[in-house]
Amino acid sequence: MKACIIYSSVTGNTYQLAQEVYDTLSASIEDLDYVHVDEIDYDQLLNYDFIAIGTYTWGSGDLPMEMEPLFDWFEEQSPKHLRTAVFGTGDSFYPNFCGAVDLFRDMLYVKTTLTVTLKVELMPQSHDIKKVPTFCDRLMPEPVYS
Ligand SMILES: Cc1cc2nc3c(=O)[nH]c(=O)nc-3n(C[C@H](O)[C@H](O)[C@H](O)COP(=O)(O)O)c2cc1C
Repeated sequence: MKACIIYSSVTGNTYQLAQEVYDTLSASIEDLDYVHVDEIDYDQLLNYDFIAIGTYTWGSGDLPMEMEPLFDWFEEQSPKHLRTAVFGTGDSFYPNFCGAVDLFRDMLYVKTTLTVTLKVELMPQSHDIKKVPTFCDRLMPEPVYS
C-alpha cells in the first residue's frame, strides 16, 4: 500500500498533528511519503492508494494560499478511486473554525473517496492525539490502529 501525507503549517500546529498522523501510519505502511505541500510531485499523486491532507485556516475561513494548487488539482483530476482524509488546526476565536478543512472536505467528498476529517484547536493536546489512531483507521481499508 502506498500513501502520502501532505501538509502545510506556519506556526507548527498543523505540523505537529501531521507528525502524529505520520507516526501512526508509519507503524504499518512501509511506502509512506510525508511532504510539505510546496514539495508535491503532482505526477506521482495518482499512484497513491490514499492521501491525508493537513491544513491550517487563513483569512476568514480560507485555504492557505499554498494549498490552492493542491485543491485545484483534486478538482480537475477528480480521482474518485483515491481514498482521502483531511485534518487541520484552527482557532475557535474565528467564526469559521477550521474553514479550510471544511472547504477540502466538501470538495474531496465529491471528487474522491473521502473517508474521515479531524479538526484540532491550535496545538494538538493529549485528548486530540488520542483521536489520531481512529482517524488513521478510517483512512485504511481495514482498521489496524485503534
Ligand atoms: C490572519 C489569520 C487568520 C486566521 N483565520 C482563521 C479562521 O478563519 N479560522 C480558524 O479556525 N483559524 C484561523 N486562524 C488560526 C490558524 O488557522 C491557527 O492558528 C492554526 O493552528 C495555525 O496553524 P499552523 O500552526 O500549522 O500554522 C487564523 C490565523 C491568522 C493569523
